[in-house]
Amino acid sequence: MDKKELQAEILRLKKEKDICILAHAYQDHELWEVADYMGDSFGLSLQAQKAEQKNVIMCGVRFMAETVKILAPEKRVWIANDKAGCPMARQMNRMDVLELRKKYPDYTVCAYINTTADMKRAVDVVVTSSSAMKIISKLPDEKILFIPDPNLGGWIAEQMPDKTFAFYDGGCPTHMLISAKDVEEARRLHPEANILVHPECLKEVVSQADYVGSTTGIMKYAKESDKKEFVIGTENSIVAHLQIECPDKTFYALSPLCVCSNMRITTLEDLYGCMMGTCGDEILLSPQEIEEARRPIDRMIELGG
Ligand code: 13P
Ligand code: SF4
Repeated sequence: MDKKELQAEILRLKKEKDICILAHAYQDHELWEVADYMGDSFGLSLQAQKAEQKNVIMCGVRFMAETVKILAPEKRVWIANDKAGCPMARQMNRMDVLELRKKYPDYTVCAYINTTADMKRAVDVVVTSSSAMKIISKLPDEKILFIPDPNLGGWIAEQMPDKTFAFYDGGCPTHMLISAKDVEEARRLHPEANILVHPECLKEVVSQADYVGSTTGIMKYAKESDKKEFVIGTENSIVAHLQIECPDKTFYALSPLCVCSNMRITTLEDLYGCMMGTCGDEILLSPQEIEEARRPIDRMIELGG
């Protein structure tokens, strides 16, 4: 089957098998075209609860599929490619959180959504890049232990001088490849451009950007801006998506290295195979895991929605 035939077959199967397809913004455009919803981590979480279908396939990374299962346990949920995992989500486990709690007994533990379902069971509240500021500012607590990404956490902390933050030494290995030198070079090569970056980037990159936001935040900013040129500091799929969606504007990658192999691994063939039951992985969590991991995710939706 060629690409168009495969997409037509996926659209047919979706109806026949009552499947909702969710795609993260970093997925290829050909996956966006067959998805019921495309968005950032926060948008995908909200969509998990809204979907009417009995089955959900996530084109993204595993923690996103786990979040869907936690929020909609009555649905069957699959990750389209079983190898798609976020390396940051593997940086800490539940035991690490319990140990940190001993070191910071009076801190509220705030976890980035890029963590495992098991780890979320031990935290107080979950946040995403687009909702973190709103959620943490609404928390009555003064002391925040932000895990595992000190770059996102540090960016939030700078804007909340009234709170005290502690961090863990984690972070996104892909976004941390972008350097301050890349920003210098981009300013020299494209002096008219706005530089838009994800808060997972290093502090020296974020501090020089014109806009800092989530994947969909970056896209919305670029689409609505009067500017004609943009340098994008996030996974480079966003450069390609924006170039397709805004042909009258020009987009450059801040670094050619910002490519997440896990986010880019899923293909149309994987999605089709998952629908046919020949590949992908069903997310299975015990009722206790779901109940415990849901508490901080519900708090995220309550405070950030
Ligand atoms: P968003 O919350 O912007 O979708 O980011 C998720 C992610 O994994 C970025 O690397
Ligand atoms: Fe994880 Fe970074 Fe890839 Fe996002 S870009 S999925 S945070 S490794």
